[in-house]
Amino acid sequence: MNNLHLATQIAPALRMIFAPDGKAYVSYSNENNTTASLYTCENRWTEDFTTFCGKNTADKETVQIDGIGCFTIEKEKKDKPLSGKIAVVTGSAQGFGAHIAEFLCSQGARVALADMNYGGVCERAEFLSKTYDIPTLPIMANVSDEASVRDMIQKVVLSFGGLDIFINNAGIVRAGSLEEMTKENFELVTSVDYTAYFLCVKYAAEPMKIQRACAQNYMADIIEINSKSGLEGSNKNFAYAGAKFGGIGLTQSFALELAPFGIKVNAICPGNFLDGPLWSDPDRGLFVQYLKAGKVPGAKTVADVRAAYEAKVPLGRGCRAEDVNRAIAYIIEQKYETGQALPVTGGQTMLN
Ligand SMILES: NC(=O)c1ccc[n+]([C@@H]2O[C@H](COP(=O)([O-])OP(=O)(O)OC[C@H]3O[C@@H](n4cnc5c(N)ncnc54)[C@H](O)[C@@H]3O)[C@@H](O)[C@H]2O)c1
Repeated sequence: MNNLHLATQIAPALRMIFAPDGKAYVSYSNENNTTASLYTCENRWTEDFTTFCGKNTADKETVQIDGIGCFTIEKEKKDKPLSGKIAVVTGSAQGFGAHIAEFLCSQGARVALADMNYGGVCERAEFLSKTYDIPTLPIMANVSDEASVRDMIQKVVLSFGGLDIFINNAGIVRAGSLEEMTKENFELVTSVDYTAYFLCVKYAAEPMKIQRACAQNYMADIIEINSKSGLEGSNKNFAYAGAKFGGIGLTQSFALELAPFGIKVNAICPGNFLDGPLWSDPDRGLFVQYLKAGKVPGAKTVADVRAAYEAKVPLGRGCRAEDVNRAIAYIIEQKYETGQALPVTGGQTMLN
């Protein structure tokens, strides 16, 4: 096991020993600028650090762990609903993910924004950091690549000290009938919308388990941004719907496996985000595509296509970012619910 790997395990433990309510951040470096030296021998550092914390009540400490490196630990003083929390949002360069990242920052969490569009998350992270006066972390990540997912979690843990909220949001759509769909496109959708969820949970759960081992009542959240297409079939969009149905199966199964570690796993199933880029992009958006393809009989303009989709919703409009953010706030606040799929569809999809 190399030093970075060990540091990734040590940081969440230090964080929780220092502040059992989790309201602290830890950053790792190779510098040697310490208030205390701890020893790794037979995991002595846990014992040393617990004793050290008992004697010291400072809000900020820097400790050197023999042979591993230096950890700076700092208590969070702010008092917003999510102050002290550390979150990752995948696919946060645009769309739902960008809004979710903003919501979590506004509530006081430190957020890592992960996306294949690195320029996009850098810009977004800088904007959020300035607007909400809070550190953020842009990360270049491909969620369907295991090494990239492992590195993403390592970066978050070594920069902020742990992980409390993981939002599995990155997703893609490749619609098409049985005649149109290629094996390549089917596998691409499956790899991003289904397999990537497994990869992300595999690595996100590691620091969460360590935190729980160090603070008994501590709870963490994994939230999958699923879809109404994960609850009912989607015509000529089976690659997406199949992956999203599978995501509900993973959510329920992860919830069972991770409940003993205080990790809740839930899915949110939004309706169509008609204001988002997927639908509204003027060149490649679904409104333009559906108009050109004549998918909505009689529609002559983009506005006609939009009206047809709004008419399918009992509450008469598309899903908005704030609807999803409210669901996220509910899931995090609720301490007695796991393995659920929460529809946010304006009544378009109802549970049996
Ligand atoms: N837009 C909708 O109407 C709608 C409705 C219900 C559910 N959803 C779900 O919400 C989530 C977000 O959708 P959106 O419409 O906001 O998407 P979007 O297309 O606007 O943004 C998706 C983001 O994910 C990133 N991404 C794509 N593949 C990636 C990969 N392999 N690794 C890392 N990042 C990657 C993209 O670069 C992009 O920034 C998806 O899971 C989607 O299935 C969307």
